[in-house]
Amino acid sequence: MEKLNGKRINTAVFISGRGSNLKSLIKYSKSKNSLIKIKLVISNNDKAKGLKYSKKSKIKFYINNYKNTDIAENQILKKLNIFKIEFICLAGFMKILSKKFIKKFKKPILNIHPSLLPKYKGLNTHEKVIKNNEKFSGSTVHLVVPKLDSGKTILQYKIKVLNTDNAKTLEKKILKIEHMLYPKAIIKFLSIL
Ligand code: GRF
Repeated sequence: MEKLNGKRINTAVFISGRGSNLKSLIKYSKSKNSLIKIKLVISNNDKAKGLKYSKKSKIKFYINNYKNTDIAENQILKKLNIFKIEFICLAGFMKILSKKFIKKFKKPILNIHPSLLPKYKGLNTHEKVIKNNEKFSGSTVHLVVPKLDSGKTILQYKIKVLNTDNAKTLEKKILKIEHMLYPKAIIKFLSIL
């Protein structure tokens, strides 16, 4: 990727549901020294609550129902091309991007995952953390590579799991942290490019 030289990087955020991380990324992108400009929101779910944030901020969105993964990914790549997207942030996107997609896109893709990776990849992290009586949990922003939740960690934040915590309270606490962590990780990642 070329050096940014004060230019904000054209970014697409991929979501599938609630979109609270999208909301925090939009807030960051509107801040004075932001390194990103969110040009496009992509969702595989036309009912994703988070779409309201793109509408509110007049950010274009594209919905693809993923009937066929191969076709869907090609259609998404086309959109990314049209919008000159150079950076993708996955934020609660429930589809796994294929190796082919990652290779074709060529530019960096980040994801946020609600666990202390490499621990607890995949779904239902908070339930597993509680069940295993873990003392700590947290969230990780990492580069996306073809293997699920396995790319290089950019930034991680750790919190104590209390005796009184359950999956719900843990999710709430970690989500709050994520809203601070994702923009921070983006700044760190884009500053060292
Ligand atoms: C977050 O916890 C994120 O780490 C995970 O999915 C959740 C998305 O939440 N990948 P939201 O849609 O951003 O509110």
